Amino acid sequence: MRKKLLVGNWKMNKTPSEAKAFALGCKDMVDYAVAHGIDVGVGPTFVCLAAVKENAPKDLIVAAQNCHFKPNGAYTGEISIPMLKEIGISWVILGHSERREYNGETSKVCNEKIKALLAADMTPLYCCGESLETFEKGETKAWVKTQIEEGFEGLTAEEAKKIVVAYEPIWAIGTGKSATKEIAEDTIAFIRGVLRDHFGAAAEEIRILYGGSVKPGNVREYMSQPDIDGALVGGASLELDSYKGLIEGLVG
Ligand code: 13P
Repeated sequence: MRKKLLVGNWKMNKTPSEAKAFALGCKDMVDYAVAHGIDVGVGPTFVCLAAVKENAPKDLIVAAQNCHFKPNGAYTGEISIPMLKEIGISWVILGHSERREYNGETSKVCNEKIKALLAADMTPLYCCGESLETFEKGETKAWVKTQIEEGFEGLTAEEAKKIVVAYEPIWAIGTGKSATKEIAEDTIAFIRGVLRDHFGAAAEEIRILYGGSVKPGNVREYMSQPDIDGALVGGASLELDSYKGLIEGLVG
């Protein structure tokens, strides 16, 4: 039985004081989620990680939005896994479409990062998803299959189980044009099938989230689908009221 999961990807939003205010205000809703067997987390920017970690309830998962795969060195502007680990961060979002588009992040680089995170006993949240053009050409499945196979390259089934996947069609991100629950389920079930081909029964334990214009008003639809285990949410995760609405939607 896969545990439901909600992760708010804050992207480039919130200053440290704003992030701290959210952390201080989310205790009741995190307790409520935990009482219902749901994992909840947020992905603040690097400069907000410590403020959230220090002020949030311990059950709130705090994820970085990126990391480097090398432990240290001459990589100006980068953040390493040991740096994150030292401030108590154990989850990292990888391969988000915005980082793929603006920062040249490839599935192969994500694979290096996934291996480094697993070696550090941390959890990668690996994103995949197609552009509108790819969707309209009917090539979604071939596209995400490559992203999944390159991201999971060289892993054992035991390692694969520790990864969380998010399927985020680019055309649904920040557009208000969310994928229907049928489209989301179809692609996510397909992704699970790809994982099954490579890792067998371990695929049933891998959590796969949907992301793209998820709101308190539509999250229940996705959660009604057999292969969708939760949501990766941008805009609607920024305010406490809306975040609470998302948790309520996951509860049922
Ligand atoms: P929105 O929920 O704002 O569409 O963003 C989705 C997303 O990119 C989460 O990673």
